[in-house]
Amino acid sequence: MVKGARLGSLTRAPSLTTLIFSLVVMLSCPVMSSSFGASDTEILLKFKGSLQHSNALNNWDPNVEPCERNRGNWAGVICLNGNVRGLQLENMGLMGTIDVDSLVSLRYLRTLSFMNNTFTGTMPTIKKLSALRSVYLSYNHFSGEIPDDAFAGMSLLKKVFLTNNEFTGKIPSSLATLPGLLVLRLDENKFQGHIPNFQQRDSLKKFNVSNNNLEGPIPASLSNLETSSFSGNEYLCGPPLESCESCSRRQLVLKIFIVVIMVVLFVAVVAALCSIFYLRKQSSVPLDRRPTLRDQMINVVASYPNQAGELKLPESTGHRRKVEHGKLSFIRDDRDKFGLQDLLKSSAEVLGSATFGSSYKATITGGQTLVVKRYRQMNNVGREEFNEHMRRLGTLSHPNLLPLVAYYYRREEKLLISDFVENGSLASLLHGKHNENQPPPDWPTRLRIIKGVARGLAYLYDAIPSLTLPHGHLKSSNVLLDESFEPLLADYALSPVINPDLSRQTMMAYKSPEYAQHGSITKKTDIWSFGVLILEILTGRFPENYLTQVHDTDTDLASWVNKMITGKRMSEVFDLDIGGAKSSKGELLKLLKIGLSCCEQEVERRLDIKDVVEKIEEFKEEESEGDNYASSVVNDGDANALRGV
Ligand SMILES: *[C@@H]1O[C@H](CO)[C@@H](O)[C@H](O)[C@H]1NC(C)=O
Ligand SMILES: *[C@@H]1O[C@H](CO)[C@@H](O)[C@H](O)[C@H]1NC(C)=O
Repeated sequence: MVKGARLGSLTRAPSLTTLIFSLVVMLSCPVMSSSFGASDTEILLKFKGSLQHSNALNNWDPNVEPCERNRGNWAGVICLNGNVRGLQLENMGLMGTIDVDSLVSLRYLRTLSFMNNTFTGTMPTIKKLSALRSVYLSYNHFSGEIPDDAFAGMSLLKKVFLTNNEFTGKIPSSLATLPGLLVLRLDENKFQGHIPNFQQRDSLKKFNVSNNNLEGPIPASLSNLETSSFSGNEYLCGPPLESCESCSRRQLVLKIFIVVIMVVLFVAVVAALCSIFYLRKQSSVPLDRRPTLRDQMINVVASYPNQAGELKLPESTGHRRKVEHGKLSFIRDDRDKFGLQDLLKSSAEVLGSATFGSSYKATITGGQTLVVKRYRQMNNVGREEFNEHMRRLGTLSHPNLLPLVAYYYRREEKLLISDFVENGSLASLLHGKHNENQPPPDWPTRLRIIKGVARGLAYLYDAIPSLTLPHGHLKSSNVLLDESFEPLLADYALSPVINPDLSRQTMMAYKSPEYAQHGSITKKTDIWSFGVLILEILTGRFPENYLTQVHDTDTDLASWVNKMITGKRMSEVFDLDIGGAKSSKGELLKLLKIGLSCCEQEVERRLDIKDVVEKIEEFKEEESEGDNYASSVVNDGDANALRGV
């Protein structure tokens, strides 16, 4: 029996173990089924894997359970009853991707916060987590449009925080229909368009869309909220903000204002362009307001009432016959021709006015710049004689002669027109103000000028042998300098057409010693003028000869130089500004001697043009060497070399 009972108990034993086993299996079943999905540990670690800069999550340890009842062992993991209830990953500097898909498996997840990190890109698709109650994405760099249905189906969602991101586009209308929405913060974004019609009139506790680019009327359901919920949206209107009518009126005023400003700006720009254009035009084509040659001539006539007759020029508005009367005669074929009226209308400035005549710089249309000289007393010559002489001057051509371009003849009025020369006259070069830009001429420049004058003069002697005074009026103000300081003789060979009275009063030749002594001029009279010019260039002194009406031995420049030599005051003779090699001293002395020879009071002892040119051509032109001053080494003892001149 006992055996049977034992057996009986034995036979029952397996069924007990089976029972226990199946119980164990049954009990362990939920555990096993849960590990067929993934554990919270695995889910969270997978989620972490798509984040960057996740140092703050270093204590997410696979060997430690994330949740222990209501306590979270992992940073930012919020637990309830051993389940992950929320993720609060705030202020952690996180970046990368928010892997919503892996969070879907956290069945008890209700709140999600990624506030104040550096997430970028579009908003994560949180609607996959349909059980969420709150979402905090504020203070990140999320951007782009949020799909209209982004919150569709999230019936439990109560709090949405998107403050301070870069969201654009419309506010998704799926927010407006969330049944349980309590708090919505969309402020500090770039949302545009109208605010959708929120229907949570009573439930909505906090609502803020301030500082976006929203526009249009605020839905009536939101009209009882504070104004600061809407501030910072320029074109939102209606309660609690000001009414849309006054708003649109203000917008209209603003638009009109902008249009007015733009019109004013446009007008200003057009006016500016016009005035630029006008000024350009003005500088190329003289307008009536700038003084014309005619204006300038009238001015000069007015200021010399005793010397000048009235202006005798044809009026541009005058009779046709008069206009025809006033024709310029061109004596060279190589120049652009222009009419007298063009010339009179050209913009002009006065260059100088003297008894001999006044001169004007005139710029005619097309940019040609000319010098017009108006001679006051040429009335004794008949038209034929005048034309004849002008034609003769027209044939003259030499690199050191200022060519005559055209002339105008009327009985009462003569104009001679020549080219304008850039560097002014020798007189202003020698006696004008000197500074860094306009230094006094150095020795090579002075020598080159003397040589050029000598060549020009020799050419005149050669080309018009019939004239007693091939030049007649040689002085430093009639020696012009071109851009390379090559001299050009002006006012030459005019003695045949100038009234003898005026000639005697003004022309250089009539200030010569021979005219003072014998009342006569000779072929060597121009040489005397040249001698004075040479001495002027070497001494830098302004010759009194130019000012006296007749020759005066006491004020003669040559007399002064001779006095210095005999008084052994040689060191005072030369212009101390003559730069050049010290070795040029010998040449300076030699040239001084030539100048004195040209100024010999006795015409017979005076050099003739051939000798002068020959002697001057012997001088070698050299480049200036540094800052040495040839004139500074001349000493009083050098007078001996010049004795007996
Ligand atoms: C934002 O997070 C950083 C750390 O990433 C922290 O220094 C800063 O204080 C946080 N700002 C706010 C407003 O909490
Ligand atoms: C709305 O947010 C702005 C800041 O973005 C704040 O100044 C304002 O006080 C807030 N208004 C309300 C009603 O919360």
